[in-house]
Amino acid sequence: MKLFMASSAHLLLFLNACLLLLPLLPTSGQRSTYIIHMNSSSMPASQPTHHDWYSTILENMSLATPNSTTSGRPQLLHTYHHALTGFAATLTADELRAMEGSSGFIAAYPDLEIKLHTTRTPQFLCLNHDTGLWPSSSYGDGVVIGVIDSGVWSESPSLNDGGMSPAPLWWNGTCELGTRCNWKLIGARSFNVSSSTADGESARDNDGHGTLVASVAAGAPVSGASFFGYANGTAVGMAPRAWISVYEVADGRTLVAFTCNVLAAMDAAIADRVDVISIAMGLTDLVPLYEDPFAIASFSAMKKGIMVVFSAGNDGPSNYTVTNAFPWAITVGGSSVDRRLTGTLTVYGDSFTGVSLYPLSKLLVDLPLVYNATISHCNSSELISQAAAGKIVVCHGLGGIGSMFYQIAAVNASEAAAAVFVTDDALFLEDGEFACPAIALDLDTGEVLLRYLSSLPYPTASMEFQETQVSGFLGPVIAAPAIGTYSSRGPSLISPDVLKPDVVAPGTRILGALANPFAVKSGTSFASAHVAGIAALLQAANYHSWSPAAIRSAMMTTAHQLDNTGDPIKDSATNSEATPLAIGAGHVDPNRALHPGLVYDAGEVDYVSFLCSQGFSQEQIMAIVGVDSYDCSSPSPHLNYPSFIAFFPPQPLWPGPQSFMRTVTNVDTKPAVYRAFVRQPVGFTVSVQPEELVFNATMATNTANFVLTIVQNEEPVTVVSSGSLTWVHEEFTYTVRSPIVVVAERAPAFP
Ligand SMILES: *[C@@H]1O[C@H](CO)[C@@H](O)[C@H](O)[C@H]1NC(C)=O
Ligand SMILES: *[C@@H]1O[C@H](CO)[C@@H](O)[C@H](O)[C@H]1NC(C)=O
Ligand SMILES: *[C@@H]1O[C@H](CO)[C@@H](O)[C@H](O)[C@H]1NC(C)=O
Ligand SMILES: *[C@@H]1O[C@H](CO)[C@@H](O)[C@H](O)[C@H]1NC(C)=O
Ligand SMILES: *[C@@H]1O[C@H](CO)[C@@H](O)[C@H](O)[C@H]1NC(C)=O
Ligand SMILES: *[C@@H]1O[C@H](CO)[C@@H](O)[C@H](O)[C@H]1NC(C)=O
Ligand SMILES: *[C@@H]1O[C@H](CO)[C@@H](O)[C@H](O)[C@H]1NC(C)=O
Ligand SMILES: *[C@@H]1O[C@H](CO)[C@@H](O)[C@H](O)[C@H]1NC(C)=O
Ligand SMILES: *[C@@H]1O[C@H](CO)[C@@H](O)[C@H](O)[C@H]1NC(C)=O
Ligand SMILES: *[C@@H]1O[C@H](CO)[C@@H](O)[C@H](O)[C@H]1NC(C)=O
Ligand SMILES: *[C@@H]1O[C@H](CO)[C@@H](O)[C@H](O)[C@H]1NC(C)=O
Repeated sequence: MKLFMASSAHLLLFLNACLLLLPLLPTSGQRSTYIIHMNSSSMPASQPTHHDWYSTILENMSLATPNSTTSGRPQLLHTYHHALTGFAATLTADELRAMEGSSGFIAAYPDLEIKLHTTRTPQFLCLNHDTGLWPSSSYGDGVVIGVIDSGVWSESPSLNDGGMSPAPLWWNGTCELGTRCNWKLIGARSFNVSSSTADGESARDNDGHGTLVASVAAGAPVSGASFFGYANGTAVGMAPRAWISVYEVADGRTLVAFTCNVLAAMDAAIADRVDVISIAMGLTDLVPLYEDPFAIASFSAMKKGIMVVFSAGNDGPSNYTVTNAFPWAITVGGSSVDRRLTGTLTVYGDSFTGVSLYPLSKLLVDLPLVYNATISHCNSSELISQAAAGKIVVCHGLGGIGSMFYQIAAVNASEAAAAVFVTDDALFLEDGEFACPAIALDLDTGEVLLRYLSSLPYPTASMEFQETQVSGFLGPVIAAPAIGTYSSRGPSLISPDVLKPDVVAPGTRILGALANPFAVKSGTSFASAHVAGIAALLQAANYHSWSPAAIRSAMMTTAHQLDNTGDPIKDSATNSEATPLAIGAGHVDPNRALHPGLVYDAGEVDYVSFLCSQGFSQEQIMAIVGVDSYDCSSPSPHLNYPSFIAFFPPQPLWPGPQSFMRTVTNVDTKPAVYRAFVRQPVGFTVSVQPEELVFNATMATNTANFVLTIVQNEEPVTVVSSGSLTWVHEEFTYTVRSPIVVVAERAPAFP
């Protein structure tokens, strides 16, 4: 529980009643927040509503445990009807014990901390480097204007409602907290977000993360959008005519939220009958499915036909880091686009272009350029000032993101006018957000610069910022997409039998609406926002008749695996071909997803059967699926999923063949014949029975079954080998591809 310190620190700043206080501390008088899962059918007939029932239980409890009055009375924080049946309350340890004995109690979960999956590098901001510049820029203005209580800027140009229709008649969402709704933003509610005060010190802080996500998913077109000259062009969301309803749960500054509020927000979203829910955050602790409020609430949403889109997390590039890996939701990783935001250093006519996000068009002309090996680690601001006050300093301190953090802090605190960072840090080069006048060069470019400098006694140089390189536009081809180093990787520790993430979408350096009014950010948040918008388009295109699983299947089986140079999509962390553990089925391709040919459909019954095969107890399954859905009469590990993952631990544990049963549905109106095409994973043989699927117009159903079997041929040469199964339409109208990944490790067992 290392995060406990973080949450108690927040307590001092922000009064949030949903804090994870002290579930582990022995002080019985301490209150902490619990989510209590109740059995609806146990509600006494005398109670008019669930809310009354829960209030009475809490009242009774404070009478029965009089000592608890020393720390106040239990407080009912939220009542949940849709996400789960139950409530959130502040309880002491004694009260929790009393609660466990009360009629209708199913389970209690401590409230947990959640982090938003936005950029993982906010510490790279060094906006104060040259304080004098901020007041003269509109940048600072943007933050002061921000509607900081709600975190939603209804006045964002991306939320203008030009061309929109009014909210549907059945819509019952509301706009709270002074947020003005229009025909674009039709709901904006806040679930006890702490009202932080103005944070003028940092305009590119993450306030308005929700606005950014909303603008990526469904922002209205705004021409001339750019972040201080970077990434200029027309900003438009994936589904520009979709309505947006925002449920704000996180403090925009700390990017921390708590499960009890998120559950309340999901409860409201389900009640409001949204079609797609985008969740760009995850628990900071590893929690089994039956205790994970995201898993439980997204199951409820799925039962109502609501597609829930989750971000995979920003804990890459290590494996086993994917979060939100729920079999009934879609989990999205992040990738780059073919655009680079750059700055250029020019030394006597030779140009060196590197990554930069410095927000001003500050032009530094003919300043001395200082490279001194003794100080090039840039770990001492005094030494930097001595050597390079008013000059451009070259930093060449290799070694990890932590080291970059210290270099930037030292440069920031020094009197240097600008900096050039030569680094081997892939994450930093891809996603380092340093808004000081600096550029970052990769090792190859940096070493050319250093060799060149060694031949010049007193070099001077100029620097320019605010450049955008677009692939092929007067510049080199920028291979894209590539999997973001930050993007979390599979396999999933909590649900290893389902390959996650499912797909990837743009997440690196995404331009989205913010108060200033645009910002460039990276993170799987923005990837899932893209997919949420695409899911909305697919819902609309199919007249809301497709299940969430069918929409997920359409996106997965039509995803692409090649980048814009025709090579397999690369993993930025390794610069080699991305495996399905990073990329899932591939990069989402919205136009192709409209016509998938076949889909792997699944519904509530299938997920329940799957859970019943996973060794959970009856109570645990009921906690996830709800009391009304519990039916373990036909357990089956064969979830009808459009991807395949198998674990083949090394000798002496070699398992026999592993088989997967699947059912595909022909969603074209015409009869069709499909043939199986398999790309074999190295060291394994995959076979498919039957190899041909016939959908005959005169048949009673438009579904067909098949079995895929994986057999190991030899001792595995790599830990991860991948292949694919593609069903190819006889007239090549459709190709329906599923990734196959074989992991030569023992499947993780959690908990
Ligand atoms: C939400 O805010 C209201 C009013 O500020 C407060 O009464 C309530 O306890 C808060 N609830 C939670 C769960 O934070
Ligand atoms: C909920 O209550 C019903 C009726 O009392 C009972 O049949 C069912 O087993 C209960 N479920 C749980 C999870 O306790
Ligand atoms: C509260 O306590 C009263 C008196 O003991 C009891 O009759 C009632 O059933 C209790 N209500 C609940 C909801 O536990
Ligand atoms: C309540 O407090 C009294 C006096 O402090 C103590 O004797 C008693 O054991 C406490 N009861 C419980 C249930 O903690
Ligand atoms: C709409 O919301 C109001 C206030 O929250 C509620 O009283 C009403 O029952 C809701 N109507 C529907 C149809 O859900
Ligand atoms: C925006 O980009 C175009 C090239 O795509 C360029 O011609 C134009 O000058 C840029 N505008 C600004 C304000 O940088
Ligand atoms: C995960 O990473 C560890 C450490 O690099 C490696 O030993 C292991 O084989 C990897 N497993 C997978 C499934 O990639
Ligand atoms: C490099 O920096 C060190 C420490 O400030 C200084 O002693 C040394 O003279 C510098 N070297 C050159 C060539 O300027
Ligand atoms: C700075 O880095 C150099 C080289 O690694 C090291 O010798 C020195 O101790 C470091 N200084 C500080 C203050 O960390
Ligand atoms: C940059 O320096 C200012 C003060 O000069 C400080 O407030 C700020 O935290 C520093 N930023 C970083 C990233 O070190
Ligand atoms: C379709 O099915 C019917 C009945 O099973 C069969 O007679 C017919 O030949 C089939 N047509 C094709 C094109 O397979």
